[in-house]
Amino acid sequence: MPGRALLDLLLARISDAAGGVKLFEFRHPQGRVLPAADAGSHIELHLPKGFVRQYSLLDASDAPEAYHVAVKRDAAGRGASRWLHDAAREGFRFLVGAPENGFPLTEEAPCSVLIAGGIGIAPIRCMIARLDALGRDWRLHYAARSRAEAAFADELTEHGERARIYVEDAVLDIEATVAAASPDAHLYCCGPRAMLQAFERATVAHDPARIHTEYFFPRHEPTLGGFTLELARSRREVAVPRGQTILDALLEAGVNVPHACLEGLCGRCEVSVLAGTPDHRDEYLSPARRAAGRTIVTCRSGVIGDRLTLDL
Ligand code: FES
Repeated sequence: MPGRALLDLLLARISDAAGGVKLFEFRHPQGRVLPAADAGSHIELHLPKGFVRQYSLLDASDAPEAYHVAVKRDAAGRGASRWLHDAAREGFRFLVGAPENGFPLTEEAPCSVLIAGGIGIAPIRCMIARLDALGRDWRLHYAARSRAEAAFADELTEHGERARIYVEDAVLDIEATVAAASPDAHLYCCGPRAMLQAFERATVAHDPARIHTEYFFPRHEPTLGGFTLELARSRREVAVPRGQTILDALLEAGVNVPHACLEGLCGRCEVSVLAGTPDHRDEYLSPARRAAGRTIVTCRSGVIGDRLTLDL
């Protein structure tokens, strides 16, 4: 099972980025350099009440002195963003999962087309800084409900024509934007569900190697039970009744599987598969790893058939 280094960090600064969006700066309490991060990376914040949430880094470096994330207050969410906005204070300590990257930048691409909606600008901003440092060509299309809610709008407009910002009545036509991209461009999208779905429809015929998306929420319902797990190392069988996830059943059976987000996003609950066919419902595994069928994200995914053998 994969592990993720946990850091004990200090919330050093909170500031406003836009309407409903705050910036949070995390540092080592003794000022030490933090683990490296590259463009598109996220960290994992462990919050009170068991909340574990991933947030994209706004900047990336080989030797970061701090991690910066932007958090939009989601009144309808399950509480993590509300807690960060309303209760978190400078000086609090947090367990923070070290940077990982599920949305990497293809640095050698001759051109990158970056599409962002709302707080989805966070990883895209980080990519822009990297592409500028490399001297690569890029175009940004960034949609927000209003100018006041468009985080980083002022700094982005300094890029002139390369950064187009769509607010209020301005409509970002994703299909037209994708169609206008050069054939060798890599295309990235991070934003709300409707935007990502429109992007996936618009790019369905494209080479998947040039299409990159970042989801902050699960796209699929989990597979719930009705099959049996065979635990090869411990020589046990665990039945997963209907209505339960694999992770639920394993934990109930006393099998200690690390877990965090419970939404198929972080990969913490990933387990190796020895036999059987997973029914993948997570957002974590790459298409190549899914196709290989040798691993499963147990908080969301299930089984095609009635048995799965795990390396547990
Ligand atoms: S706990 Fe995060 S993917 Fe399963």
